[in-house]
Amino acid sequence: MENLIYLDNGATSFPKPDEVYTFMDSFYRNFGVNPGRSGYDLCMETGDLVDKTRKQLTDFFNGSDPNRLCFSHNSTDALNLIIFGMLKQGDHAISTTLEHNSVLRPLYHQNKFNGVEVDYVPFGTNGFVDPEDIKKKIKANTRLVILNHASNVIGTVQPVEAIGRICRDNNVPFAIDASQSAGKIRIDMEKMYIDIVAFTGHKSLLGPTGIGGLYVRDGIEIQHTRAGGTGVRSAHRMHLEDYPYRLEYGTGNVVGIAGLHAGLKWIEEKGMDPIHHHEMKLTRMLRDGLRELDGVILYCQEELTDHIGVISFNVDGMEALNVGTLLDGEYDIACRTGLHCAPLVHEQLGTAKIGGAVRIGIGPFNTEDHIRAAIDAIGDIVDFQNKKQTPSFL
Ligand SMILES: Cc1ncc(COP(=O)(O)O)c(C=O)c1O
Repeated sequence: MENLIYLDNGATSFPKPDEVYTFMDSFYRNFGVNPGRSGYDLCMETGDLVDKTRKQLTDFFNGSDPNRLCFSHNSTDALNLIIFGMLKQGDHAISTTLEHNSVLRPLYHQNKFNGVEVDYVPFGTNGFVDPEDIKKKIKANTRLVILNHASNVIGTVQPVEAIGRICRDNNVPFAIDASQSAGKIRIDMEKMYIDIVAFTGHKSLLGPTGIGGLYVRDGIEIQHTRAGGTGVRSAHRMHLEDYPYRLEYGTGNVVGIAGLHAGLKWIEEKGMDPIHHHEMKLTRMLRDGLRELDGVILYCQEELTDHIGVISFNVDGMEALNVGTLLDGEYDIACRTGLHCAPLVHEQLGTAKIGGAVRIGIGPFNTEDHIRAAIDAIGDIVDFQNKKQTPSFL
């Protein structure tokens, strides 16, 4: 553990900034009550932090009304609210082959059980979806375009502004899955014509697990698909229509919101661009190092522009799982192998039938030494595989 090199930041960021741990601890000790339920001071102060974080996230996405920022458990939860609350029998939706199962499975479910028709636009060989391909799929009954902003497998950042413009011109609501991008790439809902952003707190926003949410632009409605306590207007028989209650159910994760608040504050203080710049510098270093290794197959775009710090690769002739096991067991390097919950990406890459790929996800606390160690370790594994030499770990 002490020597662990953590390169699985695509799954969750780790470690978090110290400020996140300390703020969560002190907040929960001092204010860990149920906000919005009662009028005593402690409850009001807890509610203040929830409101402050709504405002912070609204500003972060350049939304206009903090009440339209709804908290959820994670992005999967938010994406379910969107997909089940906006699509019904006879509707058509457009998505892509870049999607995570958090989008694919709710869409498959809507298709199988509720007769929603879905088109999945493939990404090009450069890793980007062509906005014109989305445009071509729009029909009279298209009710949603939903897209993964930054790929958790190949790292490409999609041209959301151009796609958003097409959607706005055609009066089709446009939602993005910002699980990998929020906190790394600036998301301006106004400028990018985005109607709904779904985010998760525990990745690049540097908060804890179990907190996420969505911002819904004014004029876009998501039907509530669950019902329950909201803490206000208890005599009302139906779940409340007004935001944020409309898409929030039961007691929220206040300690998660506190951690997310501290994570966002840390990002604001350090600056999102310098953090991204640092991660991309390491990503280029990794890409350059792996390129030199004979027998490494890289699945990444040439220029690494419009990219996040995610690189996937395979060692020719070896299963991804075995490479990951060696990296973990022999070199103390943690990364992710397999299909990364994005089976269509691997189908398109041709890697689905060979067990996916190895993914390295770089975070703000990674260093050049970590990357050097990863390149050396992979080089060792490649040598072993290519020349059947005894690697350093034996
Ligand atoms: C692109 C993408 N979408 C959705 C998710 C799901 O995030 P969560 O598990 O926090 O809901 C992930 C997580 O890996 C992701 O990478």
